[in-house]
Order: sequence, then structure tokens, then C-alpha cells
Amino acid sequence: MDKDAASIAVIGAGAAGLAAAIFAAETRPTGGTRGRIVLLDGARQLGAKILVSGGGRCNVTHDAVTPGDFFGNRHIIRNVLAAFPVEDTVTWFASLGVELKREETGKLFPVTDQARTVLHALVGRAAQAGVELWQDHRVHDVSRSEGRFAVHHRRGTLHADRLVLATGGRSLPRTGSDGLGYRLVRALGHRVTPTVPALVPLVLDSAMFQASLSGLSHDVELTTVVQGRAVDRRRGSLLWTHFGISGPVVMDASRFWTLARERGEPVDLYGSFLPGRTGEQVRSWLTAEAAAHPRRSLARTLATLLPERFADALCTHLACDPQRPMAQVPRQDRDRVREALTKFRFPVERDRGWNYAEVTAGGVPLEEIDYRTMASKLVPGLYLAGEILDCDGRIGGFNFQWAWATGSLAGRAA
Ligand code: FDA
Repeated sequence: MDKDAASIAVIGAGAAGLAAAIFAAETRPTGGTRGRIVLLDGARQLGAKILVSGGGRCNVTHDAVTPGDFFGNRHIIRNVLAAFPVEDTVTWFASLGVELKREETGKLFPVTDQARTVLHALVGRAAQAGVELWQDHRVHDVSRSEGRFAVHHRRGTLHADRLVLATGGRSLPRTGSDGLGYRLVRALGHRVTPTVPALVPLVLDSAMFQASLSGLSHDVELTTVVQGRAVDRRRGSLLWTHFGISGPVVMDASRFWTLARERGEPVDLYGSFLPGRTGEQVRSWLTAEAAAHPRRSLARTLATLLPERFADALCTHLACDPQRPMAQVPRQDRDRVREALTKFRFPVERDRGWNYAEVTAGGVPLEEIDYRTMASKLVPGLYLAGEILDCDGRIGGFNFQWAWATGSLAGRAA
């Protein structure tokens, strides 16, 4: 056997690449046999991203996955998800010996609560199925000639009939996904739409809130306004941190902020701390409270609907005396409080960067892929899977579902 030749080379042994290699190895082409499958990864330690995912528990998928949970070409995303729905993920993991449990939020985790269980099962099955796993084999170049691919890695060159690119995006580069895959796919003739951090915390340029609020989380509604138009509105839990804001609702909204910044478009992030209430309703509420409890302080009044720490910090931030009895709070202070409660402009300075982003927005346009097989429409024999594609999901297991779905399609077809 020529040690430098394979039927299929898969570059990237993350979630998508492992799924692709396993499905490739287990799918026998009609009338034929499977040749050699080599899975190359640049990292010395495999699956680092799987291990850190879901706080070390790996949120494998979600029990209700819809195209609306993703950003990208929804028509294509719908077809990909339909080809490998959540039920298939659950059954497939069961076949790997990984039972999943559903949490109240709808997120699915391994019953062991250990991401390691997921990684071991995937790597174990790949090896069992005959996939050769070459770690510490970073690929720096790929080319195609005479119908074959040349995969140039740090120890030599592997020739392959078919190539699956599953090199991920740019998030958490120390795991090995540092964006080099985009260069490889460009070299083969694909486009890459601009990539920005998504599911990323945001840094505020005001220290005012951070010290007093760090660690506090509460329900808010966030609205992202780009060029004067609201492009996203969502409700959920916001976490105040020492640098700014995080938590699921901020992570989900962040892509709109980072994309607008990348395009040089003016962008603002507004928060309503009393979700569902209009400015007018809050005005009436403050008036009614002043009449019903004239001696109650402003901060105590706010604390009937908001966390106490937040009520205090907000008053201080607005330079309103938190201890002043409601009956004596000047009208302009009440107006400022109302405005801040319903339309608070977060002084966002920047996102927290790739080291803290969970995924990448942008990548290879889905239109350049045949969604039934994940085959490139431009390069015969090339398949793409996972985060390298221009599709990102919201927080909650959706990004792994994308990796399993695209990986399985690419692997079966390659
Ligand atoms: P991924 O990045 O996982 O793998 C790409 C692989 O390619 C890497 O192993 C890399 O080393 C290799 N590679 C890259 N370039 C190479 C080259 N030139 N040569 C050789 N190898 C190369 N999602 C979710 O659904 N539930 C969750 O709980 C979480 N939690 C989470 C936490 C954190 C901290 C992060 C950063 C991310 C998440 N995610 C998540 C997102 C999820 O981890 C992500 O969407 C998938 O891992 C993407 O899988 P891929 O296989 O596409 O890329």
C-alpha cells in the first residue's frame, strides 16, 4: 500500500470531520469497497473544542432544531437539517454508546455530563471503522491535478481521490481552528464571505456598571440597531461581567454587532430591563408607585421589579439619588429612569475576540455547495462540512447539530 495515497482525506478532526470520516468509513458504495480513509488534524491533542464545549459537558444538540435557529441561506439550511434531523443525532450517538439526556431548556447532553464521553466515542468509532487518524499533521496547502488532491502537511504529502474539508472557523484558535482552512478552500477556487466572531461576549467602555454588577444575571430584551434599523430583537438572560456583558442573549445578539462593525456600519445595542413593557407603561407604573408608596425610595421601588444590585447601580449611573422618596423624585429623573429601563444604550466598545467566541459567522457560501451531498459545485471530489461554511447557529447545541448533519452528508457522499 502506498502510504502517501488514500481514497478519502478528511482535513480537521473536530465534530464535523470525525462525523464525516465515520460515515465515510461505514458507507459502502454500491458494488464497491471503501478504500483508505485518512483523517488529518494539525493539533497534538484531538477534539479540544469538543472537550471545552458546553462548560465541559458538551451540549451535543437541541431537541427542537429549526432553520430559524441558524443564520445563513435558510433554504439550504432547512434541507441539510432535514437530511440529518435531531432524531438521527440521538440514534447515532446511542449507536456510539452515548446516551443523551434532555435538560429543561431543550439542550441535550451526554448522561455522563462529560464532554470526554462524546470525544472518546467518536474517536473510538473512527478507529474501529478503520479510519487512520493522523494528529499533529497540520495541512498548509492543498492542490488538485489530474483528478486527485495533493494534501501538503507538515510531514509530507498525501494524495487523495476525494477531499473533505472540515477545518472549522476561527473561534478559539488555540484548539487548532485558526482560519487556515479558509486559505486552503480559497486556493481550491471557493469564495469566503468575511468572517467575524459570533456567540461572543461584548466589552463595554464604561467601568461604571462592571464592579458593582459583575456576576449578576437577569432577563432583558436586546435590540440591535444597524444604520437606524432594528435588525435583531431577542429576549433572554444577560450576565454582567468584569469586562462588560455576556450570557445567552448577549452571545446570540453579538453576531449582528460584529457583522455591522466589520462592514463599517453604525451599530447600537439597546436593552430593555423590563421586557414586554413599553416606555408609556413604565411611566404609568412609576407614577402609580409614587402615589401608592410616596415614601418608598427610588431604588426600593425599582427593586420590586429588578434585582436590587441592578436598581442601585442604575440610579447611581444616572446620577439619581437612589434613596430619595418616590414623591420627591424630580420629573426629569423619572424620565431618565424610564428611558434607561426601556431603551438603555449599551456603550459597547468591541467584542471579546476570537479567543472567547464560540463560533464564526461567515465562511464558504452555502450556494457553492450541493446541499444533498455537501459536495463543492466548483471542485469535483471536494466536500465541505461544519463551521467552515457560512452558517452559524444560536447558542444551545445548534452548532454541533450543524457539524453532525453536514459531516454525515459529506461522509456518506465522499
Ligand atoms: P472545529 O473547529 O471543531 O474542528 C476543526 C478541526 O480542524 C480542529 O481540530 C483543527 O485542529 C483542525 N484544523 C484546522 N485547520 C487545520 C489545518 N490547516 N490542518 C489540519 N487540521 C486543521 N456548539 C454546540 O453546539 N454546543 C456547545 O455546547 C458548544 N460549546 C462551545 C464552547 C466553546 C468554548 C466553543 C469555542 C465552541 C462551542 N460550540 C458549541 C461550537 C462548536 O464547538 C463548533 O461549532 C464545532 O466544534 C464546529 O465543528 P467543526 O468540526 O466544524 O470545527
